[in-house]
Amino acid sequence: MPCRRTPHWTLPLAAALTAALVAACDRPPSVELKEWTPSDHDGEKKAGDGTAKQGARSDAGGAPALVEITWRNQCASCHGAQGKGDGPQGPMFKAADLGRADWQARVSDAEIARTIVDGKGRMPKFDLPDEIVQGLVARVRSFREP
Ligand code: HEC
Repeated sequence: MPCRRTPHWTLPLAAALTAALVAACDRPPSVELKEWTPSDHDGEKKAGDGTAKQGARSDAGGAPALVEITWRNQCASCHGAQGKGDGPQGPMFKAADLGRADWQARVSDAEIARTIVDGKGRMPKFDLPDEIVQGLVARVRSFREP
């Protein structure tokens, strides 16, 4: 009965797919950012809400969106959308909870920036433009718990 045959290829295929996904996660993050940067910027402009705000943002206009995209693509996988360390890869890497008030109180902006640029422990380093790094520092500050 040909049609009741067990498709033997499904298992190796699934394994190969999983391997490909894992490999994709291990890629240096900066490579992806370069693909995202211009397209997001353009997309934002074209899809723009058409309100008066647009003009005021002029040349710095792309940065907040880029910081947001960068956070979601490069950081949230470990640290979680709200910085709690609860991203999908958070437990595996023991990603830090960035909201802790005691840590926030003793760390300086420069130290946060250095962690992003140089990496720390199991956190990889990120080769990002200074503007984005500063935006990410502000993003990290916004997670501070009361
Ligand atoms: C692969 C998982 C991973 C990714 C991706 C990641 N981090 Fe981390 N991050 C960690 C881990 C693990 C630590 C704890 C490092 C340690 O203290 O040894 C950490 C710590 C930190 C700290 C606190 C360091 C300190 O002084 O204690 C900051 C700030 C931080 N990450 C910001 C970011 C930002 C911003 C991004 C995105 C650009 C990012 N992280 C991406 C895993 C990650």
